[in-house]
Amino acid sequence: MRTPFVAGNWKLNKTPDEAETLARCVVDAVSGITGVDVAICPPFPALERVASAVRGTAIGLGAQNMYWASEGAFTGEVSAPMLLTCGCEYVILGHSERRQFFGETDETVNRRLKTALRAGLKPIVCLGESLDERQADRTEQVVEAQMRGALNGLSADDVQGITLAYEPVWAIGTGLTATSEQAEAVHGFLRQVLARLYRDEVAQAVRIQYGGSVKPDNAAALFDQDNIDGGLIGGASLEADAFAAIVKAAV
Ligand code: 13P
Repeated sequence: MRTPFVAGNWKLNKTPDEAETLARCVVDAVSGITGVDVAICPPFPALERVASAVRGTAIGLGAQNMYWASEGAFTGEVSAPMLLTCGCEYVILGHSERRQFFGETDETVNRRLKTALRAGLKPIVCLGESLDERQADRTEQVVEAQMRGALNGLSADDVQGITLAYEPVWAIGTGLTATSEQAEAVHGFLRQVLARLYRDEVAQAVRIQYGGSVKPDNAAALFDQDNIDGGLIGGASLEADAFAAIVKAAV
């Protein structure tokens, strides 16, 4: 049995002050909800403030990216050891916005992923097709290539420490959600590929979140699907009550 996992990706939103306030509201709003893992991922400058707000609660802290070197001449980057000292347990890798605007590729996601696992962070690895790719009927081909690229060289043990997030690019921030059936079809497909690459037991253990315009009113239908193990939430995670409603829907 996989425990559902709901994570909030705050993207480029919230100053440290605002982030701490939101984190405290999330702590209140989700308190008492059990049977689901919860994490919030604020921007880097807010990590320590949010860490103090969630300390002693069941809410985990995550970062939105990291680099593979631990230190050196890499202006603008942050490393896994730095995230750990800020209190991070999770790190989002390969988000489509990183791929689209900041040149990330399957290969750079793979390098980050290996480093994150070695450092003891729990990675959330994002993948998903664009609208053009879906319309050209290439969804399976695209997500399989992204997954193989990201997981290249990883052992079955490594893979069991990862959460995958299927986020169709056309559903992110657009208000267009994949239907439960569309999402479930891709999640089931990803699990089959995992079983082929590793073994069925590994495929059954890996959590696959859905992301892309998840809201309180569509969350339950998505999370009810056999292969959807919670969600990676953008816009709705910036509002504590909406986020808590989504967390509840995952239980
Ligand atoms: P939205 O929930 O705003 O569509 O964003 C989804 C997402 O990109 C989460 O990583």
